[in-house]
Amino acid sequence: MDFYARNRVREPRIETVPVTCVVGLQWGDEAKGKIVDLLTQGHEMVVRYQGGSNAGHTVVVGGESFKLSLVPSGIFRPEVQCVVAGGVVLNPKSLLAEIDGLARRSVQVGKNLLISDRAHVVFPWHFEEDRLLDRLATGGEAIGTTQRGIGPCYRDKVGRSLAVRLGDLYRDGFGQQIEKIVKAKRQILAGLGAAPEEIALDARAITDEYAGYARRLAPHVTDTTALLLDAVESGKRILFEGAQGALLDIDHGTFPYVTSSNSSGVGVSSGSGVPGRHVTRVIGVIKAYTTRVGGGPFPTEQDNAIGQHIRERGNEYGTVTRRPRRCGWFDAVAARYTARLSGVDELAVMLLDVLDDFAELKICTAYELDGKRTTNFPSHVDDLRRIVPVLETMPGWQQPTTELRRMADLPENAKKYLDRIAQLLGRPVTIVSVGPDREQTILA
Ligand code: GDP
Ligand code: IMO
Ligand code: MG
Repeated sequence: MDFYARNRVREPRIETVPVTCVVGLQWGDEAKGKIVDLLTQGHEMVVRYQGGSNAGHTVVVGGESFKLSLVPSGIFRPEVQCVVAGGVVLNPKSLLAEIDGLARRSVQVGKNLLISDRAHVVFPWHFEEDRLLDRLATGGEAIGTTQRGIGPCYRDKVGRSLAVRLGDLYRDGFGQQIEKIVKAKRQILAGLGAAPEEIALDARAITDEYAGYARRLAPHVTDTTALLLDAVESGKRILFEGAQGALLDIDHGTFPYVTSSNSSGVGVSSGSGVPGRHVTRVIGVIKAYTTRVGGGPFPTEQDNAIGQHIRERGNEYGTVTRRPRRCGWFDAVAARYTARLSGVDELAVMLLDVLDDFAELKICTAYELDGKRTTNFPSHVDDLRRIVPVLETMPGWQQPTTELRRMADLPENAKKYLDRIAQLLGRPVTIVSVGPDREQTILA
């Protein structure tokens, strides 16, 4: 029996509007993959528009778990067109490995995956730069990147002269372009302190390797901007899948402890080419608590037994790097900021079940900076490091929620907790997740 026949599972029916965007409102890993997979049923296209293989989106279908990095989480429904738009930085080797891994598990990846010829390509030197620069960048605490070459590839895109887009791989002169870049990169890497063997880049070998990837990817490569503009203008139902979370946004996040793309809602139009005015519904995804992986300030962090308990119950270890995620209480100041920033209409609260056995819970409702109370999110990380979170205590519900399927059946204290989040963020909670599977979802 193939994957699709095996997994015709019961799942909640979802109402859809023409264009929906799913965006993480914290520091990533809010379970966007689960929500996108679930919402895919009502859409004709699912689009990744920023980030790259730093993303690790988990989809659990009929008990089987899949980890996706570059392939959109809509891939589990063969009739849906998946698109990797031009704002994504593409590592062709890791994309092909992902496609092969899916094929081995009977998930079909053919013309149902299209990739923008404008996407910038990740090369071996980007990995070296990521490794060498991570510590230098902040002069203290490391950013703690995923080491997937994401920042260096975006840097080359902005810098232009050393950049390669996917479409370039199919042009005459690609070999010369690589030769020119390799010459410059050798000098740059030596300047950054790379050992001689780390700068022994062989332009010819790299050209051949990438020409091989280009041949395999050719059936998928197209002008996705034109495709998406045609789609929105003809009223197709499109689902945009954000990667990372809005607090990691290059312009609006906790700079410099961020990723290198616009991971808040503002990234949709620059990354895909679809004007923001077409997006009719923005779903902000939040965990019922907060996590962060990598360096940088985290006001509600519980670097203690509470954090450890959340980590174990929520299996909070990085999907991409397996690093233990830092865990803490729900920060309503940060999430209200990113909900406003991303134009969020409604909230999906994920991993509520992880909090099932706590006797009491805390929510951060304001920050105190130099004795002054504020609900604004500071723009400088030094201030964010200095703030004292104002924590409100709420009683826990201390009963399992994983089998519940209706809002009305949730324990009273769980309802109160969700209501408080909705009130603080000024948006309704329309989706609640009580387990990783498609079925473990409650709709308002
Ligand atoms: P993403 O990057 O936002 O897609 O999130 P990740 O996949 O990195 O991390 C979310 C993790 O939580 C994954 O392991 C999911 O399978 C899991 N998950 C999703 N929803 C729930 C839930 O409601 N409860 C529990 N316990 N786990 C969940
Ligand atoms: P998904 O899509 C959580 C974090 C890294 C690091 C910072 C910069 O699964 O939610 P980068 O490699 O992007 O230069 O790293 O951003 N980071 C993520 N954290 N989830 C992600 O993606 C992340 N992608 C990047 O840990 O702190
Ligand atoms: Mg993730």
